[in-house]
Amino acid sequence: MKAIKKAVFPVAGMGTRFLPATKANPKEMLPVVDKPLIQYAAEEAVAAGIDTLIFVTGRNKRSIEDHFDTAYELESELEAKQKHKMLAVLRNILPSHVNCVFIRQSQALGLGHAVLCARPVVNDEPFAVILADDLINFAEKPCLSQMVELFNFQHCSILGTEPVPKEDVSSYGIVAGVEVKPGLMEVSGIVEKPSSEEAPSNVAVVGRYILTPRIFDLLEKTQQGAGNEIQLTDAIAELLKEQRVLAYNFQGRRFDCGSKLGYLKAQVEFALVHEEVGEEFREFLAKLHTRLDDNVIELGKKSNA
Ligand code: G1P
Repeated sequence: MKAIKKAVFPVAGMGTRFLPATKANPKEMLPVVDKPLIQYAAEEAVAAGIDTLIFVTGRNKRSIEDHFDTAYELESELEAKQKHKMLAVLRNILPSHVNCVFIRQSQALGLGHAVLCARPVVNDEPFAVILADDLINFAEKPCLSQMVELFNFQHCSILGTEPVPKEDVSSYGIVAGVEVKPGLMEVSGIVEKPSSEEAPSNVAVVGRYILTPRIFDLLEKTQQGAGNEIQLTDAIAELLKEQRVLAYNFQGRRFDCGSKLGYLKAQVEFALVHEEVGEEFREFLAKLHTRLDDNVIELGKKSNA
């Protein structure tokens, strides 16, 4: 089987949970400290050996294209001011061997439909899907690199998974299966956003997939499912009937940056270890902790009301 060289980034979602911040700006451009979510995702793909980044975009997503493009005016300004460090940051957003392809998903018909939009570029190769709002870090090896390594050995579709509290299963694709070794499950079933009573387990698919190209044929036939959307999960349920699918409990920590709380946790944890601001931020947090009594919180709430 061919190597994983292409990654699909479905970025056409509306990001309504972050309004008004996402009114004119895509949620994938929200920064964690100083880097937008989509850049963390692109870096994870590149680290895993991917050389073609396929962004499935929608309206209001121009800034994602601009982010991965050369910014001539900005560069010449920084050059004139001799700001070499910042210039290097700009120029190193992606290595030169990596190509970006942008495909427009004209209707928001769901994640499955978004992935299907990438078919003309992916063709008949196995490929990765990364959902940028699942930010995964704090592992020796980035999540997708772990999965590509596993794929090179197993040659089948692999879903990045983690156990979630039972009360949260209705926010995820949930898998059923048998553990073949610690952290690795042979998937026998998958269901999109089940109720906690219906859920076959508490093992949730997070935003990392490696899929064989057969998924495209199945997506073509997939009808609207949960939330009236064409669900990737439903096509994977069909794929299971023909091919082996593994669920891999990745190493590392995931921040659900599609939710405000998850996003805030990511900000704090990434800031704590940030090269430039980490030390001062740690001191700030320690001091803040000693100040956090009910009066301070009441006062803050009043002034923000
Ligand atoms: C999507 C998928 C779901 C998966 C989740 C991971 O849902 O449909 O199966 O578990 O991403 O973040 P969404 O979060 O887009 O509703």
